[in-house]
Amino acid sequence: MKTTISKLSKYNGEEVTLNGWVYNMRSIGKIWFLILRDGTGLVQCVVVDKETSPETFQLESSLTQESSVTVTGVVRTEKRSIGGFEVGVSKIKVHQISDEYPISKKDHGADFLMSNRHLWLRSKNQNAILRIRHQVIKATRDFFDNNDFILLDSPILTANAVEGTSTLFELEYFDRSAYLTQSGQLYGEASAMAFGNIYVFGPTFRAEKSKTRRHLTEFWMVEPEMAFCDLDENMNWAEKHVSYVVQWCLEHCEKELKVLDRDTSILENTLAPFPRITYDEAVKILENKGVNFEYGTDFGGTDETVISEEFDRPVMIHRWPSEIKAFYMKRDPNNEKLALGVDMIAPEGYGEIIGGGQREDDHDILLSRIKEHNLPIEPFQWYLDLRKYGSVPHSGYGLGIERTVGWICGTKHVRETIPYPRTMYRIEP
Ligand code: 4AD
Ligand code: MG
Repeated sequence: MKTTISKLSKYNGEEVTLNGWVYNMRSIGKIWFLILRDGTGLVQCVVVDKETSPETFQLESSLTQESSVTVTGVVRTEKRSIGGFEVGVSKIKVHQISDEYPISKKDHGADFLMSNRHLWLRSKNQNAILRIRHQVIKATRDFFDNNDFILLDSPILTANAVEGTSTLFELEYFDRSAYLTQSGQLYGEASAMAFGNIYVFGPTFRAEKSKTRRHLTEFWMVEPEMAFCDLDENMNWAEKHVSYVVQWCLEHCEKELKVLDRDTSILENTLAPFPRITYDEAVKILENKGVNFEYGTDFGGTDETVISEEFDRPVMIHRWPSEIKAFYMKRDPNNEKLALGVDMIAPEGYGEIIGGGQREDDHDILLSRIKEHNLPIEPFQWYLDLRKYGSVPHSGYGLGIERTVGWICGTKHVRETIPYPRTMYRIEP
């Protein structure tokens, strides 16, 4: 029976055929062991002189790490073996003998590993991280689908800036220029006026010149947008969403979290409701802890970490100085200086995972904000239309997939949380 390593427990005592790659080999004379990797797991395959043909037994001397093989043999329990099973080999078919594999068990530098990302993906930790990424995306989709949100895609090629003009990737678009989208939000707002509750999910692009462990130039964002929704209801969705994703991963990624040696105590705590504090309250936390911080500016990575240390789960910071927030944010009716924005900060130093807020829904105010931000009016005409034809209070947010995966996995650098990361200095492999 052809199967995969993850399903071996179903075939105890039976003969199976496994396709995979040689992960490791060791020998004790008349017996040798092949640790097989197939992307779903690892299993020890035992090759005994008397139980195989001479051709198979002699492969010991020619097989190399990452050679591709098909192994046939009988599954049996072996408590001491990885996964609790091993395969007593009857036959090995070789597809290709691998050249000397550049990634060995010894420690390699980050730069070397990133240059070999196309191969590094085969490693145990990378496999665990990207399996968790898959589950984060699945849980996110399930969460919105189960709550009757409709997935509506936003375009990648756009004419407008969303999050400031300094991080736009500009490209030639026939006889004019276009930008790679920084966020699907503006289209999400139009879609919400058509469908009620929607979400956008796709890659977004920012020409980030900062070389931090939290920034990529291409990252994936899920952006729900809700018609007839204010800032408080927006925060209700955000905390429910993040709790759902984290609890889902705890339940479905136990094996992967173990591979990563992740202490899951804070993840277990991650249940709604989350604490909600204003920007002013967050600044007080910094002041009380003796951090030198200028009121009215954005929090840096270390500030976020200091604030998050006050809480045992993610914290939501709302009501920000309007000058440091985007043009589309609605002002607090009780204080014109504040924008109804919200950021969610992950615990344990993983920083901002969500940015969002309530949107300005008045046509004339929005128009004046676009002008104040020195943005061209023409490409925003369609966006302004939304405030002319049945404008309603509405809100939404964007959750960065890579930062969320980084936090759940306990991976300090976001470059390991996406299969093929793009940063200022790297577009290969
Ligand atoms: O806070 P941001 O810039 O918000 C927006 O783009 C809104 N338009 C979203 C909305 O309301 N629909 O980005 C949202 C999230 C951040 O909290 C962070 O998790 C992630 O996107 N993010 C990045 N992740 C990796 N690399 C980058 N360069 C990122 N920039 C933002
Ligand atoms: Mg932000």
